[in-house]
Amino acid sequence: MIFFLDTADLAQIEEVKRLGLLDGVTTNPTHVAKTGATPRELYPEICRVVDGPVSLEAVGLEADAIVEEGRQLASIADNVVVKVPVIKEGLIAVNRLAAEGIRTNVTTTFSASQALLAAKVGATYISPFVGRLDTISHDGTEVARQIRRIYDNYGFETKLLVAAVRHPMHVLDAALMGADVCTMAYDVMLQLYEHPLTDAVIEQFLKDWERVPR
Ligand code: E4P
Repeated sequence: MIFFLDTADLAQIEEVKRLGLLDGVTTNPTHVAKTGATPRELYPEICRVVDGPVSLEAVGLEADAIVEEGRQLASIADNVVVKVPVIKEGLIAVNRLAAEGIRTNVTTTFSASQALLAAKVGATYISPFVGRLDTISHDGTEVARQIRRIYDNYGFETKLLVAAVRHPMHVLDAALMGADVCTMAYDVMLQLYEHPLTDAVIEQFLKDWERVPR
């Protein structure tokens, strides 16, 4: 499964690259706002550091505006993927951007029916926000599973990108269902390493090693 880091923080991006786990990055307006940088300075730098797709979000709500914004974002670097919301105007824009060869990540997705429409208009990625569904007592992982099944049933090429994950179980569920990509925050990625038994065994081994004659 491909790992994307969900952030606009260059320090985190550099660190995950050092870990050997950086396949790509997804940003959103909230992440960008947290950095305090302007998109003009930040986006080219992220695209330069990342050897893989970088999702940058279009914020327009009308098809013409989204297409124009998408073209501008795509001109920043070859690895840009334009994030587009799964609204009617957004999907019209996705269809037009696809015709121009511009890759898209259809975002703010909460149902399999939305994902079906996104695939039909030629989205490159679909991003169901699983954690946000769980928060309102819906099963986000089940929605992602439905999308997997639908895409497999019809051979859609749109990639399932499980997003808004909150903990390692979300990542594991994504891998078990055969998601193409999972995007996660830096903290969640670090949690994947953790196991109390690993820590306990290492501590025991190091203690025993002190008793070995040298
Ligand atoms: C994914 O592409 C989004 O940036 C991200 O997962 C949004 O999720 P969150 O704001 O609920 O964490």
